[in-house]
Amino acid sequence: MTRFHFTTLSAMALAAAVVVSPQRPAFAQGQVTVYCSILEEQCREGAAMFEKATGIKVAMIRKSTGEVYAQVKAEANNPRGDVWWGGPGEPHLQAAEEGLLDEYKSPKLPELHDWAQRHAEQSKFRTNAIYLGALGIGYNSDILKKRGIAAPKCWADLLDATFRDEVQIADPSSSGTAYVFLATTVQRLGEEKGFEFLKSLHKNISQYTKSGIAPVKATALGETAVGIAFIHDMLTQKLQGAPIETVAPCEGTGYETGSVSVVKGGKNPEAARKFVDFTLSPDAQNINAKLKINSIPSNRNALLSPDAPKFSEIKLIDYDTPRWGSPAERSRLLKKFDAEIKTLPR
Ligand code: G6P
Repeated sequence: MTRFHFTTLSAMALAAAVVVSPQRPAFAQGQVTVYCSILEEQCREGAAMFEKATGIKVAMIRKSTGEVYAQVKAEANNPRGDVWWGGPGEPHLQAAEEGLLDEYKSPKLPELHDWAQRHAEQSKFRTNAIYLGALGIGYNSDILKKRGIAAPKCWADLLDATFRDEVQIADPSSSGTAYVFLATTVQRLGEEKGFEFLKSLHKNISQYTKSGIAPVKATALGETAVGIAFIHDMLTQKLQGAPIETVAPCEGTGYETGSVSVVKGGKNPEAARKFVDFTLSPDAQNINAKLKINSIPSNRNALLSPDAPKFSEIKLIDYDTPRWGSPAERSRLLKKFDAEIKTLPR
């Protein structure tokens, strides 16, 4: 199971310091097309590092996780991508189950935390874990103060009429982040009550954005009072000076297992496997610490940012990534969300 075990957390907190080896000049040739579902700046940094280390040219396309899933599926007869780097595990698992991803046992696997090795095993080695991130609420403290609104502490607080038009979240079809929120809500409350919750919340949503990071940026800029997204992304904004506070909701929350996969039938399978090895290495995972991105890396030897949210202090639900990443459940939930929530008038 990808379910997270608290006992592994302390081990993560002790993640050893890493010696970044000087890159040797690269003579290898070739190219690799990477569909990248993490932050644009991580994608760019990773591509440059990989090119420098291997000489393999990287064509990088940044898209949200649900969008990449749809693209990989649409291109199944003539795949144009080689690697899918980042984004929550559910769309990767769905693609794996649908035969769109290649099995690959990276030699880096033994270096990973147990939860990450389990993720690979559960997918029959068709995807790999690169990080963890807990879902939460971010609010703009300046806006809340100005409007005299009390800070939310729980998911249920966001249903209050004072938050009318003040909440942003992405669309779960395009965004892996928003799908984790949908699956969290259904697991937390059960499907019937979960959809009632989403219906009530819909009244307060000003916009379902395409990418998961958009509500974070909008909250930081004061374009919305509240955003629902990953806590580590909101923390990055806070560390950059934005008036944003993060909340680990009182009822408990879900989390993502950020993943990387080889696209089946890609034109550059060998380069794709090299790229996956790279994403599982401390060098690539230390991009986080360098850019102050605070998700929790899967490689035992990668640096854990001192600012990373402490999972041991967050109330987590027993989040079941494999179940909600199965083709049947993910397709069904997204269809239901479109039919019963997104189209509702507010
Ligand atoms: C950001 C976060 C990642 C997350 C990704 C999902 O890059 O830092 O932890 O996996 O967003 O993006 P999406 O647009 O699919 O929600």
